[in-house]
Amino acid sequence: MRGKFILSCILFVFVLACETKPSTRKEQSIDNDSLINHQQSHANSDEVSLDSLSLKLRVNFDSQELSGSATWFVRAKEGVDELALDIRSIEVKEVLVDGVKTSFKLGKDHPVYGQGLYIPITGDVEIVEVRYKTFPSAEALQWMSGEQTSGGKPFLYTQSQAILARSWVPCMDLPANRFTYSAAIYCEAPFRPLMSAENPKEADEEGWYHFAMREPIPSYLLALAAGELEYRAYDERCGVFAEPVVMEIAYKELVDLPEMMEAAEALYGPYSWGQYDVLFLPSSFPFGGMENPRLTFATPTILAGDGSLVSLVAHELAHSWSGNLVTNRTWNDFWLNEGFTVYFEQRIMESVYGKEYADMLRVLGYQDLKETLEEMGPNNLDARLYLELDGRDPDEGMSDIAYEKGRFFLEHIEHIVGRERFDAFLKTYFAKHAFQTMTTAGFIDYLKANLLNQNPSYLKQANIDAWVYQAGLPKGFVPPQAAAFDQVDKLSPKLLAGKQEAINATAKWTTHHWLHFIRGIQAPADTAQLRTLEKVFEFSRANAEIANAWLVLSVQSDWQAMTPTIEEFLTVVGRRKFLTPLYGAMNQAGPYWKQTAQDIYAKARKGYHAVSVHSLDEMLLEKAQ
Ligand code: BES
Ligand code: ZN
Repeated sequence: MRGKFILSCILFVFVLACETKPSTRKEQSIDNDSLINHQQSHANSDEVSLDSLSLKLRVNFDSQELSGSATWFVRAKEGVDELALDIRSIEVKEVLVDGVKTSFKLGKDHPVYGQGLYIPITGDVEIVEVRYKTFPSAEALQWMSGEQTSGGKPFLYTQSQAILARSWVPCMDLPANRFTYSAAIYCEAPFRPLMSAENPKEADEEGWYHFAMREPIPSYLLALAAGELEYRAYDERCGVFAEPVVMEIAYKELVDLPEMMEAAEALYGPYSWGQYDVLFLPSSFPFGGMENPRLTFATPTILAGDGSLVSLVAHELAHSWSGNLVTNRTWNDFWLNEGFTVYFEQRIMESVYGKEYADMLRVLGYQDLKETLEEMGPNNLDARLYLELDGRDPDEGMSDIAYEKGRFFLEHIEHIVGRERFDAFLKTYFAKHAFQTMTTAGFIDYLKANLLNQNPSYLKQANIDAWVYQAGLPKGFVPPQAAAFDQVDKLSPKLLAGKQEAINATAKWTTHHWLHFIRGIQAPADTAQLRTLEKVFEFSRANAEIANAWLVLSVQSDWQAMTPTIEEFLTVVGRRKFLTPLYGAMNQAGPYWKQTAQDIYAKARKGYHAVSVHSLDEMLLEKAQ
């Protein structure tokens, strides 16, 4: 441990009571709410391609809205007479087809998929412009007041994955349609907008910032942020954006970024996106990181002070190949994005920090997977790599299955064919399918044709059906091990007993040793023991990973004196990965904790992003009735 987490430094208070969804829509409504392509989208992407987008938007912090236009360059098949787009929490003002105002229709509003926006076109249409504004409730957008950010200034950021892009840009909101984009964004000084694109250093004379994304991307990689932001470069192609008060620590934390980029390129070929910057968001960001091209969005909860949580950046960087370059065709194929990325992340970490370090990450990942599998129970269909999310919220597929089972499957293949062969295979796979989508079946075919068919025993050992199309881990799976954790297991009982010599022996332990130690403590633990440990190691004031694991254990051990610390954590941090286990533990720990969870949530909810709110409402609001 050692790096003291600066929770308090990035403290924000929740004051805004914002979200009530406008329910009155004046536009003509038609009765078509069917999803035409089973991909959680209304878009007719089989008939029409949208090749490029020109966005023009004003950021208005006061009214919490984006307003302006999205202009699409369209290619329609012959005979097609309609363009269907996705929108959600957007008010469409006007639609122009090749410069001429046109009537449009809106489908019924669906709570997850939003509405179809239906625009009459002819086969030779070229340009469709939608003039619109977003409602303050637009799900992708997190509008933060000055009180909610570390720098004391308002902040806006988007989170488009998986199907929230439609709540700030009318689009074909599915991974299969790729487009380039340019954008002009206006926001008042001192705020500066940034996008998943070439970011301008300055505004033009009228205060507009101009952006370009020249490589085609799917809609879920559209991203915008605006705030008082500074930039510091590590070299000519990578650097950090952050609010001024966070910059110093943020810059130090990611000093190994250039080395990570070199390691990634040495593994799987040149980086295709030109620039790679990381933007640190306010701590309400619901994810650890988001691989927005050229500009990863990151949670400040990885700012541990000692670089111990930078594997998250290796992960988002790895997505520049797996996901951003070769993209899952549908959310059913999500593991092609995330499983590959965890595998690649792990390889970057091993290359930069060594095998012993990477082994610790691997074992922690396995522990997460085991827990998820236990929670899911046997034969749960969501425990397969290939998911069936049709008609569901793709968010439901975001589990350790895609990430960790996906990674272990690839490690399994690596083990069968040998690292050298597997690396050559992956490098070619990325190059051959760059800027395209891939299905699970397509990947399996490619894997067989280009690797497994080389040797009859490969295919048999690969056990593809069990890994990809059956629940859980295949029989015979050998759990990973980390030598570094043997010492933790050995010292653990002595540490719990407060033995000084054991305490001294932990001097060189990293965040990962401590996580393994805390996870290994059987709950409920003796609170007297926990108190002693807290006194010596101050886990609740360590980095967010350690603090979170520790606070969950505290709840499970009914250590009620920790309540204020838990409240502080839940008020500062909006990252769903931390919220769900902590609120979840409280919700199951008897009346005192259940009530405490609800009291804290009632106060903290308005500061969380819609993604976190969605998950927590399910857990905490329904049960409250
Ligand atoms: N692309 C994901 C985040 C995501 C997935 C957002 C699905 C919405 C829907 C991102 O790359 C990610 O995996 N983030 C992880 C980090 C990680 C190191 C595993 C997270 O946020 O915890
Ligand atoms: Zn990811």
